[in-house]
Amino acid sequence: MDRSAQPSILPAPADKPVYVNRMFARIARTYDLMNRMMTGGQDQRWRRQLLALCDLPPRGRLLDVGTGTGDIAYAARRLSPPASPVGIDFTYEMMAAGQGKDPAGPVPFVQGDTFALPFADDTFDAVVSGFLIRNVVDRVAALAEQARVTKPGGRVLVLETTPPSNTPLGPLFQFYFFRVVPLLGGLVSGDLEAYRYLPQSTVGFPMPKELQRMMELAGLRHVFYRELTFGSVAIHVGTKTRD
Ligand SMILES: C[S@@+](CC[C@H](N)C(=O)[O-])C[C@H]1O[C@@H](n2cnc3c(N)ncnc32)[C@H](O)[C@@H]1O
Repeated sequence: MDRSAQPSILPAPADKPVYVNRMFARIARTYDLMNRMMTGGQDQRWRRQLLALCDLPPRGRLLDVGTGTGDIAYAARRLSPPASPVGIDFTYEMMAAGQGKDPAGPVPFVQGDTFALPFADDTFDAVVSGFLIRNVVDRVAALAEQARVTKPGGRVLVLETTPPSNTPLGPLFQFYFFRVVPLLGGLVSGDLEAYRYLPQSTVGFPMPKELQRMMELAGLRHVFYRELTFGSVAIHVGTKTRD
């Protein structure tokens, strides 16, 4: 498929935070349903795999950045033994939509920006994000700020989609992302533009090796990644060393 046939709707870098914030505020109520439909339920499995790589101590403190409706934070509390999660996001409406969805009760949500996390240095045993980094402009700065609040010896993890060219099923994924997802998203959320943004932001995202390098530039060490679901998604893991 010729992607150039579709005009870009990606915002200019300076406009991106406001664009992203407004877009997630608009789709917050249908966000979870759309995720389940779009991935056939695989998204929750990816989140569990992310948490399995956190190497948390029992009751370990976990920060979920760009928590959205809190799926990673809620899953962290279901671990055995459970972790102690906090979710942070700059879109109030996403966290509001995630309130009360777990019968076990709420997890703490904080409104804030990944570039200025309101926590002291060395606070968390692990800091994770799911599908956040694609939405920020200065990825190295965001990762460095996440590393700052991680305890020495703790991990910073990133769950993200990869560009379709990363997978042998690229043309199929591209068709699905560019043609099916916007239609489905438009129907479910009433917001065609948000689900046209998704494939376009995925195509421009760094390949896994480049993201690995960005994590190293952010000061993380022993960085590695795992590819999931035919390479359409990857989990990157880096460690904050003691030096
Ligand atoms: C695709 S959603 C992912 C939500 C959740 N992590 C998940 O696994 O479904 C991306 C989230 O990142 C948030 N976000 C984007 N840029 C942010 C920033 N600079 N600081 C904090 N949150 C941000 C958005 O508001 C949105 O809720």
